[in-house]
Amino acid sequence: MKNLISASYKGFASDNWSGVSPEVLQAIVDVNAGHHPAYGENDPFMDLATQKFREVFGDKSRVFFVYNGTGANVLALQQLVRSWEGVVTPHSSHLNEDEAGAPEKFSGSKLLTVYCEDGKLKPAQIEPFIQSFGFQHHSQAKLVSISQVTELGTLYSLSEIKALADFAHSNNMYLHMDGARIANAAAALGCSFKEMTTDCGVDVISFGGTKNGLMFGEAVVFTDEKLAEGFQYNRKQGMQLASKMRYIIAQFVTYLENDLWKYNALNANQMARLLGEKLSDLPGISLSRPVEANGVFAIIPKDVIPKLQKKYFFHVWDESKNEVRLMCSFDTNLSDVEGFVSAAAKLMNGH
Ligand SMILES: Cc1ncc(COP(=O)(O)O)c(C=O)c1O
Repeated sequence: MKNLISASYKGFASDNWSGVSPEVLQAIVDVNAGHHPAYGENDPFMDLATQKFREVFGDKSRVFFVYNGTGANVLALQQLVRSWEGVVTPHSSHLNEDEAGAPEKFSGSKLLTVYCEDGKLKPAQIEPFIQSFGFQHHSQAKLVSISQVTELGTLYSLSEIKALADFAHSNNMYLHMDGARIANAAAALGCSFKEMTTDCGVDVISFGGTKNGLMFGEAVVFTDEKLAEGFQYNRKQGMQLASKMRYIIAQFVTYLENDLWKYNALNANQMARLLGEKLSDLPGISLSRPVEANGVFAIIPKDVIPKLQKKYFFHVWDESKNEVRLMCSFDTNLSDVEGFVSAAAKLMNGH
């Protein structure tokens, strides 16, 4: 199989195209010896993880591990929303655009999407759904779901998150955060996970790590364990209960220890900032969105895109605008950034 992979190749397609942090890979090897309880039951690793996550998210929190981000999002929703209740979320959310209808299929509830130019939902945009409360013909909004970092590379400030949580709670709704890139957000804002979630009033978090150096696995974190009642059954029904749970736990514990999450995310963010600066210096290329975390959105001439993709693969975000998305990872380095920019410069000059 080795000949199917080029060890030197790196692109900017997505932060989940990267490999695994060496520390995380080592942790997987370390827990590989011997036999160990399955499913996280009567498992000292699970106790350790619960303790670790409580240190990070607060004493009342409760963590559950699942296989992937879609599973985490869908189960979080399913736990808190009944089929006739709705989920208010930006149109651009992963939940709406990239989960093949899984949220609707498994929770049975309707996604109430809102167009958000910058990918960020504002309390005023939830207001119209409140008007439907008590009207039996309409889905009843029960949960607000935001992504931090958003799919458009933007960040909510702590006060924006708190405003959404306050608005949701004062209308008897919950706030969910899709944190596939939550580490990049916390690193960029210079805050702790708790400050960005529990302290702002977020009720449930899909805490991701795969995009920042983990091999696989995701954590669903309830900031108040009262909301988690029965979640273990939901997870099993949702086919997201891993029997060899210890391999997920080992990754997360290592990731949270010694701030590995922060070290990785700061690098990805810094490389994105640099890539954005260098690209925007090239005549004919401009940034279409601010670089706030580890994503760069740029407008590149139509004929240059496929040629550049051959050297460094990346995705076209909006074909009608020639807008592309370039994601930086924990392992993106200076020479990747410089190589990309110099390839772009040459192509822009017709070479
Ligand atoms: C914002 C966001 N949420 C969730 C996910 C989780 O996806 P997966 O089910 O592939 O782990 C992703 C991955 O692309 C994402 O970008």
